[in-house]
Amino acid sequence: MRANPGGVLDIADIIGRDEFIARMWDVFNWNSVSLEADRRVGKTSVLRKMCAAPPAGWEAAYLDVGKAHSPTEFAEIVAAEVFKRLTGWNRPTVRLAEYLSPPMAGSVEPIFRLTGRDRPRDGSWKHLLTAAIEDLVEQQTEVGRRVVLLFDELPWMLQAVAIRDNPLAAAEILHVLRALRQSWTAGRGFRMLICGSIGMHHVLRLVDTYAAPLNDVTKVMLPPLSRVDAIELARRLIAGEGLNVEPGSVAQTIADETEGYPYFIHLIVSRLAVDSLLVTPERVRELIQRVLIDPNDPWELKYYRNRIAWLYPRDGSLPLVLLDAIAVAERPVKLAELQESAEHAGEGDAKKVREVLRLLVLDYYLSRDAEGGFAFRLPFLRQWWIHDRELA
Ligand SMILES: Nc1ncnc2c1ncn2[C@@H]1O[C@H](COP(=O)(O)OP(=O)(O)O)[C@@H](O)[C@H]1O
Ligand SMILES: [Mg+2]
Repeated sequence: MRANPGGVLDIADIIGRDEFIARMWDVFNWNSVSLEADRRVGKTSVLRKMCAAPPAGWEAAYLDVGKAHSPTEFAEIVAAEVFKRLTGWNRPTVRLAEYLSPPMAGSVEPIFRLTGRDRPRDGSWKHLLTAAIEDLVEQQTEVGRRVVLLFDELPWMLQAVAIRDNPLAAAEILHVLRALRQSWTAGRGFRMLICGSIGMHHVLRLVDTYAAPLNDVTKVMLPPLSRVDAIELARRLIAGEGLNVEPGSVAQTIADETEGYPYFIHLIVSRLAVDSLLVTPERVRELIQRVLIDPNDPWELKYYRNRIAWLYPRDGSLPLVLLDAIAVAERPVKLAELQESAEHAGEGDAKKVREVLRLLVLDYYLSRDAEGGFAFRLPFLRQWWIHDRELA
């Protein structure tokens, strides 16, 4: 197995996750799911592995909706995928056909568009989306299967819609999806999985809807790879890249230093493969130290810094003040101390401090121990933070 950071893996190269996937299918028996995890933890890979081998009685469709920027584009993506699956189904009442203009002759990938007549009409995307899902459910019910739609990057899309279009349009998408989940005709025949690295809590804050459009789905967190699987991945990549490795604990070191993030495991091994030096645990640690201060930021950790501004638009300097105070502390920091740091920085609102800390935990920056102390969740991110913010 070759190192392929960020690439689309062969299904056989997606290590582990089997128990997690089995649990997901179990949950689908009774509910839809909102799956959240930090980016690069392996969400998309899990969805692809689920689609590759659904259990008997299920049909799964993967939909990358991150590229949609409007409700209409969203509905078109769903409809195009459904339409592909309906070919050969000779039901004269295919509702979908009414809404779509056929793909242009000669186009490589059939892209269905709402017909010119319907496209500008307000709300016609809702009919398209509903018709697509109802058609698919009806077709699958006939052959005794239920359908799962896996919406990858839906929170990202909703955020784009809320910012570019308006928050009401994003709320409407959530309401239509909810209505579909609860519909008498389609609801029992299908489930959806909403997946993304921006927490839905931010989307809901932005959308500001009072209707709690997600309180009927089961929330699930995808953890990084287990230590056993992370070591297995490192081993396979080391073998695949033909690295010259000191016998012993190199694979363990890679797994531990990356906290089981598969993306960083691929990155480290591909970097080690550049020369033929003997790889030792020390060399792995040195390499990571160099990565963390490299001005080119090969792990793109700047992402964690840059997204603060748009995740916390109303919170001023408070998120940075709190993260800085936690980064420089040698042990987990208690709330009272953090209140003090905030006050020093002129951010004295105690309620706001608690709220921002809560969000920083949900957004994968921090974890909280049993005594209530806050610390960076990823030690390498903490180190990078200290360097980048010049806190040393
Ligand atoms: N289970 C896995 N086994 C091996 N490599 C993985 C696994 N999951 C993710 N990866 C690696 O990490 C990269 C990022 O994974 P991806 O599924 O795209 O994460 P996310 O969708 O959470 O951002 C992939 O391109 C691949 O290199
Ligand atoms: Mg992804």
